[in-house]
Amino acid sequence: MSKGALALLVHGGTENWSPQRWKVRFDDVCRDRRVLLLPDPALDPAEVYYAAVWKPKPGELAAFGNLRVIFNLGAGVDALMADGSLPDVPLVRVAVDDLTERMTEYVVLHVLMHHRQEPYLRESQRVRRWAPRYQWAANALTIGIMGLGTLGAAAARALRGLGFRVVGWSRSGKRIDGITCFHGAAGLDAFLRETNILVCLLPLTQDTRHILDRDVFLKLSRASPLGAPVLINAGRGGLQNEVDILHALDDGTLGAASLDVYETEPLPEDSPFWSHPRVVLTPHNAADTDADEISKYVARQIGRFEAGEPLDNVVDRERGY
Ligand code: NAP
Ligand code: GLV
Repeated sequence: MSKGALALLVHGGTENWSPQRWKVRFDDVCRDRRVLLLPDPALDPAEVYYAAVWKPKPGELAAFGNLRVIFNLGAGVDALMADGSLPDVPLVRVAVDDLTERMTEYVVLHVLMHHRQEPYLRESQRVRRWAPRYQWAANALTIGIMGLGTLGAAAARALRGLGFRVVGWSRSGKRIDGITCFHGAAGLDAFLRETNILVCLLPLTQDTRHILDRDVFLKLSRASPLGAPVLINAGRGGLQNEVDILHALDDGTLGAASLDVYETEPLPEDSPFWSHPRVVLTPHNAADTDADEISKYVARQIGRFEAGEPLDNVVDRERGY
């Protein structure tokens, strides 16, 4: 009996993330199965049992009538959930230590950057100004993490380990040692009132779109040596109201923002974020997924699935993440 093929549909990406690189990795870990890099003119759609995808075009996956599992090559599945014709088979997202560690690095880097007043110090160096400012202790700040899933919980623990006070917010209730956890709409205001640096690691869903808006920024705590609160968003651009962020930065509601994600990516050349003095900007690379790690993760899951074992990290289509 045919083992079926694995179809690779990868749009966008950098050199390390090229479709060809994924093909080489998948050929290596799926040696007993045909791996097809699409578009492939010789493709028989009925042959495809598995698809490993990043940002497939809406409707692309509907062509495969025998599809058994869709593997998203990243953690966030918002692009797939927006495809009304997505086949009704399990959709698996990435949750692996490698990605989690990369995101923890990004969050720790940016929290420390604001806490240790790095933008001021770099500017001082640029203008040859010897004007030290007092450096307060980590426990003078409360970091609030929105989203206490795979990535948020790991970042929360790392920040706690550095001595920050950490609070978190999720949909369902959580217990994490040393972290004060809030949940649901009822817990949001209390969470924001405690927070000096807001870190967003939520998925983009119908419930979270544009959650980072002026109302939220106004509720953040100003009671810290930072003065105005800081926003760090590495979730998705659709979580943020970008006009509200710019107004909040300009009128002092927010002191600074670190942004990795944007409503429109690549960020348009005329975006005010590029040159804003209080924005630290990165090009959606807080936590890249690594083709070596993820291809092994997918191959392991296919093995489990074919042995009748449950798949890990299956997306709940109702919740949208
Ligand atoms: P996850 O494990 O699914 O965790 C999501 C968290 O968000 C959970 O704690 C969940 O609450 C919470 N949440 C979802 N909807 C909510 C709502 N309406 N109200 C309150 N809390 C809500 O996801 P993850 O692996 O941590 O990844 C999070 C996101 O990071 C991804 O979806 C992706 O968009 C983004 N990401 C970005 C990059 C990058 O390079 N910038 C890289 C990877 C991922 P429950 O725990 O109660 O379900
Ligand atoms: C990257 O943004 C991901 O969702 O893995």
